[in-house]
Amino acid sequence: MHDREGGDGHHGRTRLKGVNMARDLTQLELLTELEPVAAENVNRHLSLAKEWHPHDYVPWDEGRNFAALGGVDWDPEQSKLSELAKAAMITNLLTEDNLPSYHREIAENFSQDGAWGTWVGRWTAEENRHGIAIRDYLVVTRGVDPVALEQARMIHMTNGFASPADQLLESQAGFLFSVAYVTFQELATRVAHRNTGKVCDDPIADRLLQRVAADENLHMIFYRNMCGAALDLSPDQTIDAITLILENFQMPGAGMPNFRRNGVLMAKHGIYDLRQHLEEVIQPVLKKWDIFERTDFTPRGEEIRDRLAAFLDKMSKDVVRFEEQRDRMLAREAAKRERELTGASVH
Ligand SMILES: [Fe+2]
Ligand SMILES: [Fe+2]
Repeated sequence: MHDREGGDGHHGRTRLKGVNMARDLTQLELLTELEPVAAENVNRHLSLAKEWHPHDYVPWDEGRNFAALGGVDWDPEQSKLSELAKAAMITNLLTEDNLPSYHREIAENFSQDGAWGTWVGRWTAEENRHGIAIRDYLVVTRGVDPVALEQARMIHMTNGFASPADQLLESQAGFLFSVAYVTFQELATRVAHRNTGKVCDDPIADRLLQRVAADENLHMIFYRNMCGAALDLSPDQTIDAITLILENFQMPGAGMPNFRRNGVLMAKHGIYDLRQHLEEVIQPVLKKWDIFERTDFTPRGEEIRDRLAAFLDKMSKDVVRFEEQRDRMLAREAAKRERELTGASVH
């Protein structure tokens, strides 16, 4: 492990404020400087967060025992969810289930003291509620195979999650990478939950996932505000972290069993695709941070910003290419169904 707390900790707050930083701040300096902003945002979050209870979102009267208690085990026929809705629900739930990995990532890079500690605890508790609610819904309604789900959870949690930053960097302030990653990730899960709710074709599931998505939005705002404050405090260092995170972004589901199949299915049907990633997740956040209007970067920061602009430019081209491929694939599938239908009516 590298020493994230290392470096010279003697720089007082007054020396840091408003100084055009010639050097990167240490982890400890960032956390100390940003603590008042964290306190403000924890209070903001607590004043906006709505209390809700998973049991209010689950149709318990649909539930019945499984074979171990004298009932009937799961059978694919019992699920009212489409293949797409199943894939999306499983992906979203496994992502929520993997919370201990995310907790580790955040807890290691934030402080346990003061507002930081309060946030880490509160955020973890709120995230835990998402997994509870979605699991209860799926098990009670028999929407997915509970045995396969449990096996996938075991594999996914055992693999854990490694932040792209851990793989990239030896000794940098992990806080910036974490806070940049979760800003985009919270917004991405918000989009995925919302769109999953729509394809479940069940008003109860839709209501549940809307509720979860509303939480994700508040989480995103907390992290976005923290990362924005870090940009003001240490612009070059922060845009460096943001750019590396975006260049290496992977959805939290990466690495879970069937993620490729499920991810492709979700992208194909607009639950989470490249255009949504670019236009509903990346662009609004960068706009909020004024990335392309800021004048506080040094030449180092400006160079990184140019790299980010080139990366986004390439992504817009990839979006077009992906959509052309997708349209051709969907057209082929529709034609095939058509042929099967006409073929069937002949006989
Ligand atoms: Fe969540
Ligand atoms: Fe969240």
